[in-house]
Amino acid sequence: MGNGSQIKKADLIDKSMRLIKESHIEKIWQAGIRRDSLNYHTTVMYPPLKAMSRITEQQIYSDFQNRCKDFTLYVHIPFCSGKCTFCYFYQIEKPTNEKITNYLDAIKKEIKITKKRITDQLGSIKIKSIFFGGGSPTALSKTQFEDLINTIKQQFNISEKTEITVEIHPEIMKYNGRSLLESYFSSKVNRLNIGIQSFNDNLLKITNRRHTAEEGIETFEMAREIGFHNINIDLLYPLPDLTPEIWEETLNTAFDLKPESITTYFTAIRKSSSIYRLFQKYPARFPNEYMNHLFRIMTIEKAKDKGYDHRQLTDWFVKPRDDFHYNHQKSEARRTEEIQLLSFGSGAFTYLNHFQFYTYPNIKKYCEMLKDGKLPIWRGIRLTKEERLARAMVLGIKSGDISISEIEKRFSKDSIKKYNPLLKNLEGLGLLEMRNGSIRLSEKGMLFADEVSVQFITENIRNKLSGNNDCLESERDLIESYNFMYDINGLSFLQ
Ligand SMILES: C[S@@+](CC[C@H](N)C(=O)[O-])C[C@H]1O[C@@H](n2cnc3c(N)ncnc32)[C@H](O)[C@@H]1O
Ligand code: SF4
Repeated sequence: MGNGSQIKKADLIDKSMRLIKESHIEKIWQAGIRRDSLNYHTTVMYPPLKAMSRITEQQIYSDFQNRCKDFTLYVHIPFCSGKCTFCYFYQIEKPTNEKITNYLDAIKKEIKITKKRITDQLGSIKIKSIFFGGGSPTALSKTQFEDLINTIKQQFNISEKTEITVEIHPEIMKYNGRSLLESYFSSKVNRLNIGIQSFNDNLLKITNRRHTAEEGIETFEMAREIGFHNINIDLLYPLPDLTPEIWEETLNTAFDLKPESITTYFTAIRKSSSIYRLFQKYPARFPNEYMNHLFRIMTIEKAKDKGYDHRQLTDWFVKPRDDFHYNHQKSEARRTEEIQLLSFGSGAFTYLNHFQFYTYPNIKKYCEMLKDGKLPIWRGIRLTKEERLARAMVLGIKSGDISISEIEKRFSKDSIKKYNPLLKNLEGLGLLEMRNGSIRLSEKGMLFADEVSVQFITENIRNKLSGNNDCLESERDLIESYNFMYDINGLSFLQ
């Protein structure tokens, strides 16, 4: 057992089961607030893709209403060495070098055109953070990555205080791991996000992760040795054949490494992933709703025991400390309404000038459009003031808490009033707490942050999700398979 732990081995499962019994979870389940992999939706955007329509570059880039100069950047690298069975994200397996080169040429073009369009409107802007995600950014060679990050540095003002994260796939330990990690470090990347998922070799094998538990540990230790002081570990549950004992082992190993934070993702099982077919054939291999709840309680108890805070957006456990990363992440979470998110790459979404939009999730189309000097905008929506308020509520609740005075200042004096019946309902179920001028998820509410936050979707968006939108018939399948956010069918509303 790791240092300073108060929980003895085997006690964690017993204690978590006892806590579930005492919590009367059935009351919340009966109200329709529940979580299962087939309907699970993660709430990191508002509204979801299905509520978006065709939109043009001119609509987005003329007459900037959102004058906020604080930006976060996301760079999407959709390449992987294989396909994990649970993955439903847009990704391309085993790309040729030519495909990667063409893509990088296109993304550099997108960065330059977008930067010009934005600075024409806002003047110089501040970059608070950059996240290279995927797919697997580690699929790029050292030279390809350096070329890409240098383009970003030439275009934008990046300071020592800009948080720069790269998502790392532990399979790099089989190939060029050290040289890649060293190159990130010298390129001033100051945060790594390691996709560990599990420290159990059998689970890694059956989900086709292409790395072992040992390689996950090695990646972490090598990153530390090279000098990375901010490392997040991603874990994923439920997976087929996962038991409480295996999950406890995974938690023990993860916390014993002492990362700055750990994110535990709840697996969404979507039709486009091969785990879906496995689920259809052998449902008994998948943990049931109670088990999944148990895994989450175990995680929370373990994190508490190790001195990590529970934050939202995802189930994110962070070790409190006094550095700019910690403070940055704390303050950003509160400012989701005005802060602008600029994403580059195929199949990424942006929030800019009160528009939320996607680029084409198809690299051929994406590259062709940029070759012609056009931004590869696919579908989007302009958020009215009412929708921006809903977005602030949805993402604010998901982040953990909302300041009522901030919402009233930004929108109107009565903006919270219309939510009173819903707020009372959620408070009655013990999911929300309203005190000292803030609305926050209770400890119980944190367990259902996604399900509680979507309660604040407007009627207008619910209608768009349930009805036929303007999608072209030829794009219906693409939208279905790419709609990785919530869909009305999977949601249960309290009112
Ligand atoms: C899009 S993936 C990219 C990370 C990287 N390619 C990797 O696998 O290490 C980001 C994170 O999403 C999570 N994830 C993947 N598939 C998921 C699913 N079906 N449901 C929920 N989370 C998932 C995983 O924990 C993963 O680390
Ligand atoms: S989970 Fe990550 S590595 Fe696996 S297929 Fe999806 S994006 Fe690629």
